[in-house]
Amino acid sequence: MEILAIRGGKPVRSETWPRWPVSDETEEQALLEVLRSGNWWRHSHGQGVELVEDDTDLKSTVARFQREFARSRGCEYGIAAANGTVAIEIALRAGGVCPGDEVIVPPYTFLATASAPLVVGAVPIFVDIHPDTYNIDHRRIEEAITPKTKAIIPVHFGGQPCEMEAISGIARRYDLIVIEDAAHAHGSSYNGRPCGSLGDMAAFSFQNSKPITAGEGGIITTNSPEYAEDCESMVWAGRKRGEPWYRHFVLASNARMTEFQGAILRAQLKRLDAQVRQRTENATLLNQLLGEIDGIRPLKMLPTTTSHTWHIYMFRYSPEAFCGLHKSIFVEALVAEGIEGAMTGYTNPLYQNPMFLHKRFMGGAYPVVPEIYGKEIDFADFAELCPVSERACSTEAVLIPQNMLMGDPEGMNDIATAIRKVQANVKQLL
Ligand SMILES: Cc1ncc(COP(=O)(O)O)c(C=O)c1O
Repeated sequence: MEILAIRGGKPVRSETWPRWPVSDETEEQALLEVLRSGNWWRHSHGQGVELVEDDTDLKSTVARFQREFARSRGCEYGIAAANGTVAIEIALRAGGVCPGDEVIVPPYTFLATASAPLVVGAVPIFVDIHPDTYNIDHRRIEEAITPKTKAIIPVHFGGQPCEMEAISGIARRYDLIVIEDAAHAHGSSYNGRPCGSLGDMAAFSFQNSKPITAGEGGIITTNSPEYAEDCESMVWAGRKRGEPWYRHFVLASNARMTEFQGAILRAQLKRLDAQVRQRTENATLLNQLLGEIDGIRPLKMLPTTTSHTWHIYMFRYSPEAFCGLHKSIFVEALVAEGIEGAMTGYTNPLYQNPMFLHKRFMGGAYPVVPEIYGKEIDFADFAELCPVSERACSTEAVLIPQNMLMGDPEGMNDIATAIRKVQANVKQLL
């Protein structure tokens, strides 16, 4: 009998995993250039708000990055922002989502997907995820639509594109806007079309863990000049192109990205394709290795997924195949075996957060009060409607972060070996 590392045995792996984020002298050089130039914010380069296609502003790293990123996503326009959360908020505002409206979101995601509607005064309506992909279950969207529904925010979870044809069809039928939450999907495509160009607008994040990063940052991509102009105005405190600097036309905050972020992101973007290719090779191997283990099921790859960013690799764990061992102890045992970054994923579906259960929104429960919303809502009720999300959080989902897919194939064998070792010796943990 082998002793599990968590019980003092020798771990399966002692080598470290590739670090994240990745950078070299390209980022260093780019940062120094901005530093020495003294042009630390976008306004240093021009006298006003300028849209991405305006080539007069191309001295700005943010302007260059916006254009390069948008084009890489099959979009005309990219509007850089301070982070991915405000990018979703701004997209909702530009899309005309108002207090009392409903926005359909999945519950198995980061808070921002559902807090952004609240921040603009709308009500998030949770639709469960699909058991095979953990993306919003497109088959369940229609039953959640009411006369108040204005938008859908599908999240391309982990980097796998959602069923966008079905979602866009529903949006057309009910006259809804679609804002892709592409925070995990910088290099993903669906039926050959890049994520970021599949809805009316899309929001990406460049936070530290994301597939390209400047520590913080975000961008909205779109092919609509009207949405682009509105988003840009909202990034720039409600200013407008060609108008005097101190005239503000819409209620908006300052959500600008700095020139330092723009400089790093331009360098990061150049690495993305090669990194996605490497992660794809490792993920394909890992799918095969884990698919052979009883009680372990990797999420499914859809035939519509032409490119998967593999920001997150996720597999489904069945405690029954591990003598009922809870997944949190399973993950602790994996980490002890040297599978350092393994995690249990989101701890609860979003609606189970105290913020939703106690409606700790703006000024008490505002805007989810009958005077604005027209009815009462109890977010705890979504638990019954979202059994897949409940199960993913409590017993099923195990997450491997992207950096672990960025080394050699030996790492994938180590993950599979560690899982088999825990399974064969599970009695030591009961
Ligand atoms: C799915 C999803 N949406 C939105 C965000 C928000 O991005 P940011 O952290 O840049 O505000 C994140 C970040 O973790 C995310 O994972």
